[in-house]
Amino acid sequence: MYFNNEKERTLALRDALLAKGLHAQAEVDATEQGFESWTPDNGAAVVARAWCDPDFRERLLSNTLAAANEVVQPVPFGDWDAVALENTHKVHNVLVCTLCSCTIKSLIGQPPVWYKSLAYRARLVREPRAVLREFGLELDRDVEIKVWDITAETGYMVIPQRPSGTEAWSERELASIVTKKCLIGVAQPDVHSVVRDERRATSLSEVQHA
Ligand SMILES: [Fe+2]
Repeated sequence: MYFNNEKERTLALRDALLAKGLHAQAEVDATEQGFESWTPDNGAAVVARAWCDPDFRERLLSNTLAAANEVVQPVPFGDWDAVALENTHKVHNVLVCTLCSCTIKSLIGQPPVWYKSLAYRARLVREPRAVLREFGLELDRDVEIKVWDITAETGYMVIPQRPSGTEAWSERELASIVTKKCLIGVAQPDVHSVVRDERRATSLSEVQHA
């Protein structure tokens, strides 16, 4: 039998499994729901907590999985170990899966199209500075770039540097500027993308109109 596209093939496979009683619809629904809850919002919440709480930051660096579960529960990693990598003024971390396109989906979300591309996977390890520049991330020459290749055993997430000027921000506001690209390491948080807390937004507009 021939199919015109991947969707037709997937639906036919699902129908065949259901017809044979090998795959319950409830399991399909539960799996889909699981995928939907795996978003970069989880990783962003973990990063924001690490920025605000030095003790949590220590726990996140030493035992990433256990610490992440304090913030977003439960974080299903399968059999993977998870390692949080902290960016500093001297070191910038960036992730790739040269073999295929893995991410810690429960913290970073589904891998973007560019992350799965052969060009990204091949070029990042050879010329990371040039690739980051194409993402609009120009790093000083004295910043060391560390490229981390995800394996079948270990996944990573990047803790970006907290931007200056955000000292008074709430944890939720901080989380709003941490994107999937930040968690992979091809971007830095943009303070202009902040989603303000409602109360703060009101008080700010009151100030502006005073
Ligand atoms: Fe992979």
